[in-house]
Amino acid sequence: MIIYKSPAEIDLMREAGAILGEALAHLQSMARPGVTLLDLDREADRFIRARDCIPGFVGYQGYQNAICTSVNDQVVHGIPTNRKLREGDLLSLDAGLIHRGFWADAGLTVGVGKISPQAQRLMDVTRESLSIGIEQAHVGNRIGDISAAVQQHVERDGFSVVRSFVGHGIGRDMHEDPQVPNFGIAGTGPLLKPGMVLAIEPMVNAGGPDVALLGDGWTVVTVDHSLSAYFEHSVAITLDGPEILTVSKKALPVRP
Ligand code: CO
Repeated sequence: MIIYKSPAEIDLMREAGAILGEALAHLQSMARPGVTLLDLDREADRFIRARDCIPGFVGYQGYQNAICTSVNDQVVHGIPTNRKLREGDLLSLDAGLIHRGFWADAGLTVGVGKISPQAQRLMDVTRESLSIGIEQAHVGNRIGDISAAVQQHVERDGFSVVRSFVGHGIGRDMHEDPQVPNFGIAGTGPLLKPGMVLAIEPMVNAGGPDVALLGDGWTVVTVDHSLSAYFEHSVAITLDGPEILTVSKKALPVRP
């Protein structure tokens, strides 16, 4: 069942998203050689709580940390450890928070120091595929229009989209209906209506689409050990078009 949000609820989700956007920008700037994954996790936890929000991943289905940190061939849901970041690593950060009862969920991939041209291309194409998917997230389109746009952009470059994990509706729960696959057929699936809020999250592998779960029960890796990248935004469907909620408002110029 899809839960539609009122304008007042979207206002709260916009506040939640702005805080998460700031948190991710801050973590991104910290991602340098020598910093550990747990350093990033502790800083995320502190940053989110300091703004009176709840780091929603903590305790979610037994998960213990505020963020997921997935390095190189790890796709998503990597558990922060004391592993130090190294020059050339491709780090995917995923974070979620709850603000006044509403979730924001977002993530991004960042290169640590100088990365290979292939890693850069993978990161760029994945970020672009999220933007292209979001462009399709307007009233009157269907979920499949988002899915097909993401998939086409990714595969044009010879990369592949992960099938076993998908985006989702978001609101008072992190995961609500509908599912938002990163592959599919335009013109199919649930109709997009005002008040829907979707977490769109392409996971893109440099090699094949197949993934496996590590023994820790969380970390998802590419079966062929190829690099993987991931970007996610929570997006509101409004009559004025898609609104990306999970962006920092800090960088916007102040009106006189
Ligand atoms: Co998500």
